[in-house]
Amino acid sequence: MAQFYPEEIIQEVRANNDIVEIISDYVKLKRSGNTLKGLCPFHREKTPSFSVSPDKQLFHCFGCGVGGTVINFIMMIENLDFVEAIKFLAERARMTLPEGDFHGDHTKRYKQKQLILKINVEAAKFYYKNLLSHEGEIARKYLAKRRIKRKTITNFGLGYALNSWDSLLQYLLSKGYTIEEILSTGLIINNKGKSHYDRFRNRIIFPIIDLRGNVVGFGGRVLDDSLPKYLNSPETIVFNKSNTVYGMNFAKNAINNELIIVEGYMDVISLHQNGIINTVASLGTALTEEQAKIIKKYCQKAIIAYDADTAGQAATIRGMDILSKVGCKVNVLTLPEGKDPDEFIRIRGVERFQKTLKESKNLVEYKIELLKQKYDIDDIQQKVEFINEMAEIFAKIENSIECDAYVQKIAEETNINAQAIFAEMKKIKYRNNRKNNKSLEKINKNVNFVAGQTNANTNSKANIRLLNAEKMLINVLCYDKYVFNKVKELIQPSDFYNALHQKVASIIYHLREQGETIDPTEIVSKFENGEVSIVTSILHLDTNFEDNLKAAYELIDSINKEKNIQKIKSSLEEGNVEKLNTLLIEYKRK
Ligand code: UTP
Ligand code: MN
Repeated sequence: MAQFYPEEIIQEVRANNDIVEIISDYVKLKRSGNTLKGLCPFHREKTPSFSVSPDKQLFHCFGCGVGGTVINFIMMIENLDFVEAIKFLAERARMTLPEGDFHGDHTKRYKQKQLILKINVEAAKFYYKNLLSHEGEIARKYLAKRRIKRKTITNFGLGYALNSWDSLLQYLLSKGYTIEEILSTGLIINNKGKSHYDRFRNRIIFPIIDLRGNVVGFGGRVLDDSLPKYLNSPETIVFNKSNTVYGMNFAKNAINNELIIVEGYMDVISLHQNGIINTVASLGTALTEEQAKIIKKYCQKAIIAYDADTAGQAATIRGMDILSKVGCKVNVLTLPEGKDPDEFIRIRGVERFQKTLKESKNLVEYKIELLKQKYDIDDIQQKVEFINEMAEIFAKIENSIECDAYVQKIAEETNINAQAIFAEMKKIKYRNNRKNNKSLEKINKNVNFVAGQTNANTNSKANIRLLNAEKMLINVLCYDKYVFNKVKELIQPSDFYNALHQKVASIIYHLREQGETIDPTEIVSKFENGEVSIVTSILHLDTNFEDNLKAAYELIDSINKEKNIQKIKSSLEEGNVEKLNTLLIEYKRK
């Protein structure tokens, strides 16, 4: 890991920040034996599989596999890089970090982020004050016309950008910020290098707040029909539109397992005002995969409630596909043409909206609905095309009972013989299968190629046995000095089959030579981000053998045996007869 602080400093930061205390700020922990357990903040779960060990000062989730030290935890939950996390924890423990060149770039970036967030808060306050001021009357009237209540304005921190070229700029300058600093927030625009002016002018302002409560950017709406209707902050080092979900900071507290996904700021605000707080917006129509992943963390089922126009329909299908792809169940709420949730509630009331929520359709039902609109089934030719497209959809349904039910229903509704639909489906399935088999063949070829190249066997049962034995042995060697001294001559780090295990073992062997006890966080901190979780999963383990020494002997035995089997297998695959013979003789001798 590229470190910009000396190891002693990092150790001190870890020592001054007890992992249980820090994680308790984010996760409700309950004691259970030697560890504490809670609901994992990194994936959705109902039964706790997130575990924190006060003795080892490590955390590990048995559900999603993440783990590490207190520093890794802060990096993940606060979305910070390594140096930023060190600063964060040092500050929390009231430590003063030495200044120096070793953390130049990262500190600069951290400071820049903090500065932008600070200016954003200043700006949000300024916009809010404007809205309540004399000049803000026109904006207040606009919001009143849209039935936004005073309490909602405060809740969402809505504001007003004055009808002026530089009121925000002047205000921020008066607060002591430099032009360059203000430019980095995207709130002002450089006019051909000559002058600067405010990005948002004469607009209602919607602060965009992230999950941690930071104001990361803004949206601004005109008060009339002029264009563009909405302006948004540009991308900055704190604002990335494609991984921002508007309203998630409020919605994450809704205990409900469903999240409603709407298109715009006003939809979120209006639904919240009507008590439906499990609503978020994708900010525009194109839901991104990053957004979908965030959404999945907070719900089991997403309900897409986009406009019913053609663009909205296309966006809905795309959104459904993206959400399904990340493993989220998804339904669609069909609103009358041209209405978005905000208008629907205003005209028909919240009860009607609740009712349509209950009637939301799943992907199959939704696609059928669209097809029915697309074709006129009284026309014979169109009817044939309708059946063809319908069969495509049905062919993808895995559950055959569910599939049957849909076919029967459609057959009745359209007066088409169910057998005709089934026949069409069969053809499509056959075609799809052939396609699948072809790509499977291709994948297999690739896997074999890679396996042959790296000599790494794919996860056969024997392989898993071998890896598990190595993990348990490493754990014992790490925590039991007596056993280590007894067996260190029998197995060397290079004897481990797995490369990562070799690396962990060699660190343990090295540390054992130096001192009495081993601090597992010191081992974990020697690994790159991608490896931290795996290493932690090994060290976090409580092996609980009755007799560690006996267990270690047995583990070493089984590692040697399994490793030989793996070697024999790969020389078989290579067709290396000579090597195979030597291995077999060796194997028999053992
Ligand atoms: P809509 O045009 O559906 O607006 O755009 P809306 O949210 O219903 O707004 P009102 O009700 O007319 O006030 C949906 C979302 O798309 C983004 C905004 O995030 C908006 O909320 N958008 C739209 C833009 O970023 N720029 C635009 O010019 C238009
Ligand atoms: Mn609208």
